[in-house]
Amino acid sequence: MTLPPRDEVAARVALTDSVARDGVALTDPVATDGVALITGAASGIGAAVARRCAARGMRVVIADRNERGGRSVADETGGRFVAVDVGVPEANNRAVSMVMRELGRLDVAVLNAGIPGRCTLTDFTPDRYRQTMRTNLDGVVYGVHAVMAPMRRQGGGSIVVMASMAGLTGSPDLFYATAKHAVLGLVRSAATPLASAGIRINALCPGFVDTPILAPVRQDLLGRGFPLAHPDEAATAVEEILAAGKTGQAWLLQAGEPAYPIEPPEIPLRT
Ligand SMILES: NC(=O)c1ccc[n+]([C@@H]2O[C@H](COP(=O)([O-])OP(=O)(O)OC[C@H]3O[C@@H](n4cnc5c(N)ncnc54)[C@H](O)[C@@H]3O)[C@@H](O)[C@H]2O)c1
Repeated sequence: MTLPPRDEVAARVALTDSVARDGVALTDPVATDGVALITGAASGIGAAVARRCAARGMRVVIADRNERGGRSVADETGGRFVAVDVGVPEANNRAVSMVMRELGRLDVAVLNAGIPGRCTLTDFTPDRYRQTMRTNLDGVVYGVHAVMAPMRRQGGGSIVVMASMAGLTGSPDLFYATAKHAVLGLVRSAATPLASAGIRINALCPGFVDTPILAPVRQDLLGRGFPLAHPDEAATAVEEILAAGKTGQAWLLQAGEPAYPIEPPEIPLRT
């Protein structure tokens, strides 16, 4: 691989910094009766985000592989359901085509579908590792790719990726953490190329949130005194990210506290 010239790298870093600092000019989609597509919205955080977007007057599309739960949230929010396995690129493209055909625009995409890790280093199999990456990383990459073109055509949009505190710190669920670190790398790196199309991309990194994904460890976490956030706290954080008008940021959310952006380390660029 040939590396770009150093001054080009420096210029790209400077652009990412200024985009993250100054934001991309866009009207506030939440204030404009926009359209929100939320993956993994049949349950937990995604369902809370869908309810909040609908309560703000947005038209919501619930995209999930869980048809029963997804239809129920769609009925409750007056939204639409679309069956999607985010690990399949064409399924993401079909969902976005449906949104554009039926609703005419796409202002907000919350790429939230996720699963716990399927293995660790001790019980590793390539297949279980791939399952973990397929939903938690590939699903986000395919989602970003699917929403990019229509957002660009309409002059912009806002993407929020559901990462995790495990994407900032590491976790015993190590391939889950690996995927969540990777999506933060995507968010920070894609901010600059997407900014020229008026598209913002940010991540929310929640600590423990009381949803079905935690069921296997919930009692243990409570017994050890870890507070669990309510899914509505994550919905509020997503609203704050959308309203902040920035891009390339990773926001940390912990139970009972407002979410805030975590600054990446400042690395001096040697020339
Ligand atoms: N709950 C927490 O403590 C916590 C903490 C940090 C990050 N997160 C992240 O938040 C997101 C939402 O999780 P949650 O806590 O609401 O869990 P959840 O299990 O309640 O919801 C996850 C949803 O994703 C859907 N989903 C899973 N795989 C899918 C696929 N391949 N295609 C389409 N849909 C799929 C499920 O059907 C479900 O509706 C996940 O990305 C998770 O990693 C959760």
